[in-house]
Formats: sequence, structure tokens, C-alpha cells
Amino acid sequence: MLEQPFYDPERSYEENFAEGPFGDFADGVSVERTGEPEHDFLGAPLFLPFGIPAGPLINARFVAAAFAKGFDVCTYKTVRTRSYPCHPHPNVLAVHLDGDLTPELAAGSLVADDSYREPLSITNSFGVPSKDPDFWQADIARAIESAGKGQVLIGSFQGTKREGGSVEDFIEDYALAARLVAETGAPILEANLSCPNEGTAELLCFDVERVRQICERIKAEIGDRPLIIKLAHFAEEEHLVELVKTVGGVVQGLAAINTIPARIVDERGRQALPGEGRAISGVCGSSIKWAGLDMVHRLVGLREKLQLEFAVIGVGGVMSAKDYQQYGQAGADCVQSATGAMWNPYLAQEIAEYSSTEDNI
Ligand SMILES: Cc1cc2nc3c(=O)[nH]c(=O)nc-3n(C[C@H](O)[C@H](O)[C@H](O)COP(=O)(O)O)c2cc1C
Repeated sequence: MLEQPFYDPERSYEENFAEGPFGDFADGVSVERTGEPEHDFLGAPLFLPFGIPAGPLINARFVAAAFAKGFDVCTYKTVRTRSYPCHPHPNVLAVHLDGDLTPELAAGSLVADDSYREPLSITNSFGVPSKDPDFWQADIARAIESAGKGQVLIGSFQGTKREGGSVEDFIEDYALAARLVAETGAPILEANLSCPNEGTAELLCFDVERVRQICERIKAEIGDRPLIIKLAHFAEEEHLVELVKTVGGVVQGLAAINTIPARIVDERGRQALPGEGRAISGVCGSSIKWAGLDMVHRLVGLREKLQLEFAVIGVGGVMSAKDYQQYGQAGADCVQSATGAMWNPYLAQEIAEYSSTEDNI
């Protein structure tokens, strides 16, 4: 059953930022933990290797609410080195798919509206808005403070292409963003290399040489602090092999997947999200689970084959404890849910209960 979402798609991003979270996320009730954390994730002891990926937790209040509800691995929404506006409202719409969002379906058009029902898939299109570092550095520090025992905060960031800027400028912007996030004390960092809502045709993560340059430059900046990179679904196996061979020994974690891009239209076939560069938008939720699971299987296999040590973070379509279990069986070291968690504040508690009765991660 879908609960009231803690990020309310009916309200603007700014209203959510000022007044959220909503629903039971705002009830002030914290889940009680007993015993000791038994999992280790990139040096962080965890009660449950499960949480919420970059996106829905838009500020420290959202993060504190997620920790209180037992989501133990919370990622603060991706930040930039300078303030950046949000795409116009709406930023979230429902898309209706009964099964998988296959590459064939994603190549066509998907109808979107504001009727949220199960099986739930949505499109989200924010354009990675950001406050200035002066604001978010202090806010991330507050978010870190709200982590309890057995919980960890991940700081997500990305570089920005500026008009007239060179490739070097772009790489330097990634490095600066990483340094500014590291300064907050975030124990784990995540570089978003797979944002589909930037209005560019090709995702950064598919450009292996550029990924190598960015990862090496970031690591030079942040030293031993664990670095995760966030990937999209790779269609070609050789392409993924090339990426893992190139950066699998540089970074400490690979998170997959981000959303699957598709053309989003209203019931009359017109562009559903207003504004330039928004005809194509990322789809997430139930219909993309196949792609997240596929990437986890392949990354775990490659890690073993190439004798590498990175952690694998499974993301995409986790709506229930069973979905979490499937990711565990595929070999994920940690699992996160954005859409599922947004509409179910009790998802972490349901998974914790289920895991205590099943042989699970
Ligand atoms: C509201 C919303 C905002 C998002 N914003 C970001 C973001 O800022 N950075 C990022 O790396 N991923 C972002 N994502 C993608 C999620 O982290 C995740 O990869 C994707 O939604 C797939 O997971 P899901 O099927 O559980 O939703 C966002 C997702 C949602 C639903």
C-alpha cells in the first residue's frame, strides 16, 4: 500500500525544502535499535545495509527523519560547487508500466500523470538543484550529526559544465565539489556520473576515459576517504568490463543504477515536463528493478574475476523486503531505495524484520 510520500510531488521543490518532510516521516517517532551493528560498509558499522540513495533526502531534516525510521545508509541529495536552480514544477510524475521498463520501451514514449498507484514507477526531473556551499556544508554537517549508532551518511556531488569552460575546468569542478563535501566530515563520498536530467545526450559514466580522469583527480583531493561512483545501466558487457578494469581499483564503491531515461509525454502525446531539455527524463521505481539487479550481478562477477575489492551498492526498484532480498542474493554489499522509500516510511523496518527471520545480507 502506498503511504503519503515524505517528499510531496504536488508541492514545489522549494516548499518541500522549507516545510518537509511530510507524512509519517514527520511524526518524530524513532525506531529503537538493540544490540550491536553487525555489518561493515566501507569502514562504517551498520545495523542494516539499507537506506536511501541521493535524491529524496533534500536537506538535513529529511536525513534526520530517515535515520530515525531506520534507514541506516542515507545519501544527502547531490550538491554542486555553486547554487543552481531547480527545473520548473512538476518535478515528479507517475508513469504507468505493468512490467519492466525494457530498452525497447525506453526508446519510445511513456505517458505520465499525477496518479500514483502500484506497481509504482515515476519520473523525476529536478536538474540537480543546489544551494551554495556555504549553506550545504553546514547542512551536511547537521545531517552527519543526526546519524545514530550503526548508521552512516554519504555525501553526493557532481561537477558542472559552465558555458565556455574547458574539460579541465569540468574535472576541476568535480575535484572542488569532492573537497568541499569532504570538509563537512562526510565519512563516504559519492560522485554522480549518471545524471539523465542535464539535457545532454550521453551520460558521463559511459565515457570511460573521462571517468578515469575524474576519479583519479577526486582521489588526489580526498585521499583515503572512500569514493563511490554512481552508474547507469550499461547495455554492453565489454563497455562495463572496460570501465571496471579502468577505475575498479581507483574507487571503493560502484552504485548502480541511477534512473533509465525515456521520452515522457502527457495523455495527448505532448511533452509532459515543461521547459527546454526536459523531453527525456529519468524513470525509477518498480519497473527498473531488473536493470539494477542486472548491474549488481555483473559488477559482483567482474569484481571476482578481476580480483578487485570495491563495494557494490544496489539501487533501483526496491519496493519491498523481497526486492531487498533479491539484491542481497545478487551479491550487493548495501541496498538503497528512493521511490519505494518515498512512498513507504516503514520500508527499512519491514526489511529489518524480514532479515531477522530470513538468511539475508
Ligand atoms: C526524487 C528523486 C531525486 C533524485 N535525485 C538524484 C540526485 O540528485 N542524484 C543522484 O545520483 N540520483 C538521484 N536520483 C536517483 C536515485 O538515487 C536512484 O538512483 C533512482 O531513483 C533509482 O532508484 P529507485 O528505483 O529506488 O527510485 C533521484 C531519484 C528520485 C526519486
